[in-house]
Amino acid sequence: MVSAYNDLDRPPLDERSLQRALMAPGGFVSALRVLPSVESTNTALAAAAEDGAPHASVVVAEEQTAGRGRLGRTWSAPPRSGLFVSILLRPEVPLGAWTWLPLLAGVAAHEAVGRTAGLEVALKWPNDIVVAQGEAEDRKLGGILCETVSGQNAIVVGIGLNVTLRENELPVPQAGSLALAGAESTDRDPLLRALLRSFGTWYGRWAEAGGDARAAGLAEAYRESCATLGRRVRAELPGQRDVIGVATGLDPAGALLVTTADQEEVAIGAGDVVHLRPEDAN
Ligand code: BTN
Repeated sequence: MVSAYNDLDRPPLDERSLQRALMAPGGFVSALRVLPSVESTNTALAAAAEDGAPHASVVVAEEQTAGRGRLGRTWSAPPRSGLFVSILLRPEVPLGAWTWLPLLAGVAAHEAVGRTAGLEVALKWPNDIVVAQGEAEDRKLGGILCETVSGQNAIVVGIGLNVTLRENELPVPQAGSLALAGAESTDRDPLLRALLRSFGTWYGRWAEAGGDARAAGLAEAYRESCATLGRRVRAELPGQRDVIGVATGLDPAGALLVTTADQEEVAIGAGDVVHLRPEDAN
């Protein structure tokens, strides 16, 4: 049987040392728990929010038994094979600006992976963390699920990163992990610290700018880390037609602007984007 003590590639996280490092005065994190197993860190933190958990509370799990993804999907990974982390925010900026929070989390994840795993990754709009595989399709290493808390001015930002997943553990063939992509380090502790520090820095800039992503430098940082801009894409909108065209930019809310062959500009606020190769007809 695999346990925290015999799967040496997957050591447990140390809650106390993470708390000491991340909850120091002047730091962003206000509370941090590492749970051995939970259905979903997003669900656990939303429940804590209803009980009054403060802004910048963080829940990390070693295992999720019912992890959730975007668009009603599941997020599954073996215990301690990745980071499963949720951050509770009670933003004091206008609600209209919150659409940038999923993109802000993507920028933080991109920065943290670059700094600690020494790996060139990119964001696929809105916030899939992907690694290029030459001619083959990009592999997805991470994803982000943001959910508002009902009845409260609060939002939970959930981040999942595949760290040591092996080929035979991937939930779908297009998934990947830092280890499979050849990361220099697969230590989850520095990765989690870098992720939360980067998130805190970007959140501080964004909040300070009243939620103005351009003034905060966030829009520019997102553009620099996003592999979708400038690409031919197929945007698959929930319950609607697909839009095919070139991803030309972002609107002020962070929606993806796609210019179709007949020069129509469509703003995509939600959905999946597929990067098309030149030889793909559609
Ligand atoms: C996606 O579909 O790409 C988003 C995946 C988000 C997964 C993370 S893991 C931590 C947090 N808890 C969840 O149940 N989901 C998010």
